[in-house]
Amino acid sequence: MKIKNICCIGAGYVGGPTMSVLAQKNPNIKVTVVDINQDRINSWNDENLNDLPIYEPGLEEVVNEARGRNLFFSTDVEKAIDEADMIFISVNTPTKNYGKGKGMAADLKYIELCARQIAKVAKTDKIVIEKSTLPVRTAQAIKAILDHTGNGVKFQILSNPEFLAEGTAIQDLLKPDRVLIGGEESAAGKEAINALVDIYATWIPRENILTTNVWSSELSKLVANAFLAQRVSSINAISELCEATGANIGEVSKAIGMDSRIGPKFLKASVGFGGSCFQKDILNLVYIAKTYGLNEVADYWEQVIIMNDHQKRRFADNIVSSLYNTVSGKKITFLGWAFKKDTNDTREAAAIYVADALMNEQAELIVYDPKVSEKRIYEDLDYLGTRSPEENRRLLKVVNDPYKACEDAHAIAILTEWDEFIEYDWKEIYDSVVKPAFVFDGRKLLDAELMSNIGFDYSSIGVAKTEIT
Ligand code: UDX
Ligand code: UDX
Repeated sequence: MKIKNICCIGAGYVGGPTMSVLAQKNPNIKVTVVDINQDRINSWNDENLNDLPIYEPGLEEVVNEARGRNLFFSTDVEKAIDEADMIFISVNTPTKNYGKGKGMAADLKYIELCARQIAKVAKTDKIVIEKSTLPVRTAQAIKAILDHTGNGVKFQILSNPEFLAEGTAIQDLLKPDRVLIGGEESAAGKEAINALVDIYATWIPRENILTTNVWSSELSKLVANAFLAQRVSSINAISELCEATGANIGEVSKAIGMDSRIGPKFLKASVGFGGSCFQKDILNLVYIAKTYGLNEVADYWEQVIIMNDHQKRRFADNIVSSLYNTVSGKKITFLGWAFKKDTNDTREAAAIYVADALMNEQAELIVYDPKVSEKRIYEDLDYLGTRSPEENRRLLKVVNDPYKACEDAHAIAILTEWDEFIEYDWKEIYDSVVKPAFVFDGRKLLDAELMSNIGFDYSSIGVAKTEIT
């Protein structure tokens, strides 16, 4: 089967970059990315490539090459569905905040809406691909909707989970460790799988394209994220032990990571993992396990989240106790708000929860992040609902200049590992802050010796204070 026309529903962090690369590498396929959010589509179509809705290193170049040639962004969802041979569903699947499974299960309402819309519009056979991360067996639900409400046309459902990490999305898409495609084992299923394999094979070696049944593919995505998150929680658990005992988490990470069975990646202690996937996917896994009565399995994975919440909380608690048990009215500067460097995404960012805890203590926060907008930061806090929007704006200010942000601060906290923070003139910053000059490094980013020599009272995740000074 030769695919000529692809539609992707959802122009977000996943749909946008993924389709841009797919279009770049398949100039003969027309790729249309649609979204119900007009502002988002306008930004994708903006002449000025600096104004794309997503910041990803390398994305501008890819969009510049393919946009208008065979890559299009539009809000005309029905037209794009009608024209397409292959439809990717890449809409968001947030954790449910109501009803059964509240706080745990994925909310599939957008997925269902997409399936119903496809069923309504489709006049020719189509391959429908789950790109969003979903609970196992969602494909079955999509298939049921399509088969029972469609216009008699045939649908094949594939699972093709995304493994790109934000900040390195373009590299991850260009050179993925593997591409995973799950499909039905029937002849028609195999044909659909092959059609998708052929598209990826234009730039990815075939041996890196793995095909499985649908359920294995869906579950592998959840499990991959759960394993990655588990490594971060494991090293973060040890970071607390290091702080108590005088070991250094950097040295421990290095020592264990050199064991080829363990490997060096995802062993960086931090103020806690964030992002749209880790927490949501683990909660999903926990929910599925509970649904099947597998309580030990559920408890095992839930501990990863419990540890992560603890890590964020204890970072905030340490700031309060170090500042003589009160931060009320004190100015605390946050360097970084994004959940990791090289992205403007703030979903589940540790900074949000640390800020919330400190604002509960009446601290006055000043935030600087090189890529996150003031609007986004206030939205994050307002969404928590801890206090009124007015109160959030009274207690927290966003500043565009890092040096100004640090002026007269009682403490500086590093929440994101942006490279530029390392390059700052820390002596100049030292001269402008209140003494003793506290720095709490939630990313173990700065040079401890340098900071101490300048005069800072510097503490870092996973390193005992006495170790540093
Ligand atoms: C993705 C995946 O889809 C999600 O399952 C994964 O676990 C996290 O990442 P992402 O691309 O990051 O989501 O989400 P987001 O940036 O919120 O983009 C989703 C887009 O879908 C939004 O622009 C939204 O407007 C759009 N959307 C949503 C639709 O076009 N139609 C809908 O019915 C719902
Ligand atoms: C993750 C997965 O890596 C990706 O494969 C999947 O498709 C989506 O979810 P992402 O959330 O974009 O990607 O970023 P990732 O690099 O995995 O980082 C997640 C969080 O863990 C960040 O907050 C990061 O700072 C933190 N982290 C990561 C650590 O604290 N220590 C580490 O060693 C690695």
